[in-house]
Amino acid sequence: MVIILGISHKEKYKFVSIRWKLVSTYLLLVITSLLIINVFISRLILNIYIEQRKSNVLIRANIVSNDIKNFITLSSAKEAIVYVNPIAEKYSKEIRGRIIVVDKEGIVKGDSNKEYLGETFRHTEIRNALKGQTSTNIYNFKEYGHVLYAAVPAIVHNRIVGATLVSVSINDIYKDLSHINQNLFFISTTCIALIAIISFIFLDFSFKPLERFTKAINSMAKGDFKQKVHINTNDEFKNMADAFNAMIMKLDQVDKQRNEFVANVSHELRTPISSIKLLSESLLHQDEDNIYIYKEFMEDISAEADRLNNIINELLALVDLDKEKLHINYKITYMNFLLEKIVNRLKPLAERKNIKLTLESDEKIQIKVDPEKIQQAIINIIENAIKYTQEAGKVQVRLYSQGKWCIIEVKDNGIGIPESSLKQIFDRFYRVDKARSRKTGGTGLGLSISDQIVMLHQGIIEVESKIGEGSSFYIKIPNDIKL
Ligand SMILES: Nc1ncnc2c1ncn2[C@@H]1O[C@H](COP(=O)(O)OP(=O)(O)O)[C@@H](O)[C@H]1O
Ligand SMILES: [Mg+2]
Repeated sequence: MVIILGISHKEKYKFVSIRWKLVSTYLLLVITSLLIINVFISRLILNIYIEQRKSNVLIRANIVSNDIKNFITLSSAKEAIVYVNPIAEKYSKEIRGRIIVVDKEGIVKGDSNKEYLGETFRHTEIRNALKGQTSTNIYNFKEYGHVLYAAVPAIVHNRIVGATLVSVSINDIYKDLSHINQNLFFISTTCIALIAIISFIFLDFSFKPLERFTKAINSMAKGDFKQKVHINTNDEFKNMADAFNAMIMKLDQVDKQRNEFVANVSHELRTPISSIKLLSESLLHQDEDNIYIYKEFMEDISAEADRLNNIINELLALVDLDKEKLHINYKITYMNFLLEKIVNRLKPLAERKNIKLTLESDEKIQIKVDPEKIQQAIINIIENAIKYTQEAGKVQVRLYSQGKWCIIEVKDNGIGIPESSLKQIFDRFYRVDKARSRKTGGTGLGLSISDQIVMLHQGIIEVESKIGEGSSFYIKIPNDIKL
């Protein structure tokens, strides 16, 4: 039982709140998207920097090529170096990089580092440049880091006479980038932390109502149907709370009704039994054997037994109705004929009280009903009208249709029902005047049986009544029952 009502100790270990799950999901999403965005931004910045640097370097390389192209072709190699190398050195200082100039054979005519002068230099970029292509490349050396190589051909009168190779370190770009990356990382982690805190606070606030639900459900499980859930937010939880409160109210009502019903049944059954007991005991203690007294007492006993029988029959009918909710035997029924039959059957009862029972029907009405059950519902109401009308009164039954309804009106000029009781007369065992209706043999179950039957037919019973003037009952049954 404990396990059903709450969370068992064992389960507590596994318990992970929805809040945490949602926060982790949010964070996962945020981290993934930030990661993607950061990588993208970082790449983009690197590309922009490098492209800028490449074009800068290429411009320089072209300027150098242009300056030295006429000296490369000098016939004497030495002379060429004398002219070319100082130019290479000058520009090399300006761009803070190395410049190597080669002639069309690949022999170095200028090297700002003076390392390869006179040697043949066959670097990929140089080879490409000697073929007429401008090319750039980035290399990552262990000792120097990132280095950009750019080579351009030197052209005189449309003839390639040599090439210039410029190599500059671009470590500064990577340093800047790593600085930017650090900033991005710092901003991202701040973002993530803020999102985590805000979403946790927000979710904590949003999920507070769940705790109230759990509390209410737990106390409901313990049999307390009074715990309502109060939620002020205007969201799904509010709807849920409204539905929950409606449900708990209904349950409370059902619980009360059930208790009341059991109490009422016991009470109602006990009354005739006590009477029988009392009557038979007084008979036993009778000394004289007056047959008339015996007969009178026996008549009373028989009446009480009948009453007991009535109550039990009606209780059984109610139980059957509860059980048979789905077994309604619908038949297309000619209501005029059904009512004629009922009125004829009840005429003797009315005549006994000199009551005029009439039936009026302006139109022929055929609808789908369970004739046996509907008959019972109508009989109960006409019987009441007769029962609660004084001698020489009037009970008028009318059949007519109005919109989608087929209406059976039962109107009497009897004692009427006080306004305060109008709502209760359909409750089980309810009687306006307990003493009087017991005398008339009422059990207080008739109207609740009628109400149930009409409800099963998707209809309603309405009442109008004025005390001392009479009552009108309207049995309304839809003429298009949805099966
Ligand atoms: N036509 C009526 N006129 C006056 N009172 C009525 C009428 N019909 C029903 N009532 C009141 O409603 C109560 C409930 O009716 P019902 O369920 O049929 O029980 P009962 O067995 O007492 O007839 C009755 O006890 C009576 O007080
Ligand atoms: Mg009755």
